[in-house]
Amino acid sequence: MSTSVALEAARRRTFAIISHPDAGKTTLTENLLLAGGAIRAAGAVRARGENRRTRSDWMKIERERGISVSASVMTFDHEGLMFNLLDTPGHEDFSEDTYRTLTAADAAVMVLDAAKGIEPQTLKLFEVCRLRDIPIVTFINKMDREAQDPIALLDEISSKLALDPAPLYWPAGSGGRFKGMLDLRGQKFIPFGKNREEGHPDPVAFNSNAIVTHLDPDEQGELEEASMLVQEASKPFDVQSFIEGHMTPVVFGSALRHFGVDELLATIAAYAPAPKPRAAEKGGAETHVAPGDPEVSGFVFKVQANMDPNHRDRIAFFKLTSGKFTRGMKLKTFSTGVRGETPSKQMSVNAPIMFFASDRELAEEAYAGDVIGIPNHGVLRVGESLSETGTLRFAGLPNFAPEILQRVRVKDPLKAKHLKKALEGLAEEGVTQLFRPDIGSDFIVGAVGQLQFEVMADRLSNEYQLDVIFEASPYAEARWLTGATADLEDFHSKHRTAMATDIDNDTVFLAKSAWEIGYLGERFPKVAFHRSKERS
Ligand code: G4P
Repeated sequence: MSTSVALEAARRRTFAIISHPDAGKTTLTENLLLAGGAIRAAGAVRARGENRRTRSDWMKIERERGISVSASVMTFDHEGLMFNLLDTPGHEDFSEDTYRTLTAADAAVMVLDAAKGIEPQTLKLFEVCRLRDIPIVTFINKMDREAQDPIALLDEISSKLALDPAPLYWPAGSGGRFKGMLDLRGQKFIPFGKNREEGHPDPVAFNSNAIVTHLDPDEQGELEEASMLVQEASKPFDVQSFIEGHMTPVVFGSALRHFGVDELLATIAAYAPAPKPRAAEKGGAETHVAPGDPEVSGFVFKVQANMDPNHRDRIAFFKLTSGKFTRGMKLKTFSTGVRGETPSKQMSVNAPIMFFASDRELAEEAYAGDVIGIPNHGVLRVGESLSETGTLRFAGLPNFAPEILQRVRVKDPLKAKHLKKALEGLAEEGVTQLFRPDIGSDFIVGAVGQLQFEVMADRLSNEYQLDVIFEASPYAEARWLTGATADLEDFHSKHRTAMATDIDNDTVFLAKSAWEIGYLGERFPKVAFHRSKERS
């Protein structure tokens, strides 16, 4: 292990924000960038929130790319730490992209709307974090509006997420009566300035005379009582328990009014973990790759294609897991299974990109925790592991069984070949999943949400000039199969019309209903049906 490489990795904080739409993720992102000194004024990422209001506007943004790409990761250097903020697309109908981005995060901020508490999408994203043991910091937003009782919000975190909430601050009122919050550990009161133009007054000691400027005696008494009560009722903050995903520190605030955001950033800086060793496979054996290991390694968690419609270029978002990356370095890919039989591909990474709030810059060097964009012509796929020796493979990028399966055809039959290429490109990018039935010539496309089909149709038309028709397919579910070769062959021969292969040539069974899977599971006990598969 090289000490300087390990030290550089130790100052990285790579995190994502999870929330339900409208809880304030965009506003908080912007204000975190402001708190971290990455932007000077609010407004830089605002366009996104506004344009996201309608679907067509959102798609226009997607098409224009600039903002969505630069927002995929934002890097900023603040008080000796390097923060990498990953964007998790938060549309009502989210895609696998969101899940995969979380595989690259070392921590997450869960934003709750103080009036609404935990909403369905928060819950779904939380479950992915839990699956990956990602520690979570909670930010209860919109305290400047009428909020639920904060005790009830903590109870909801505890009961719905089975997570111990540990408030680090306690609010004084909400909405029109929001006065600020008490730092429970420092007994410092942080006043909320009512007037937008004047900003927020400086913190004062809760027990000092100066407190009367901000709270009347009743409010003081109430805050004192409530804070004592909540401290008695909740477990004290324990970093280890947070790192293990059992406890969440809670900060209150108003992203819009830039209140509580500095405290949130300080909480992330102090407690969110630096990149951890990651499980990998080397030469068929399991190993752990530590951030300070000398060999440069990492994995691609997202691919964005056709950023410039005139060129078929792609940017692969590569999260470093170990080593010191320097520009011009040669890295090799690793693959397993059928694709593993092809030799690993080597590439010189001459133009790696780092994404800052308003700029992109060539990355001269990067360390574990960092995310760099690698331009390529389709060589790098989602899930690909890269390392100097090409011998390392990281597991853990899931492909989820799609919830909607449709048949896709191109209006002009002469363009069928063209369609195949385009669908493969989009599937490699992880936009949708593609299944080729063993019998018949139609393609089946799978997605987690309906919006993915709309994005797909839009991209096929704009980037590939293909007019496509989606039709209902007889299938409702897709499952990856594993088992002994003889058992799989037996199953295969009896269900030929429902068999297909995915983009990696793995066998998939297309079922007409969940019931059918249950029924066949009983009839073929030696065949395992999987809802997700980990991509190499
Ligand atoms: P999202 O990315 O999670 O979907 O949420 P976004 O930041 O776009 O915020 C959703 C709405 O909530 C926006 O209002 C935003 O201004 C508002 N908001 C965010 N944080 C706060 C807060 O701390 N306090 C208050 N009062 N409002 C907040 P909008 O009117 O829907 O959009 P816009 O016209 O302001 O863009």
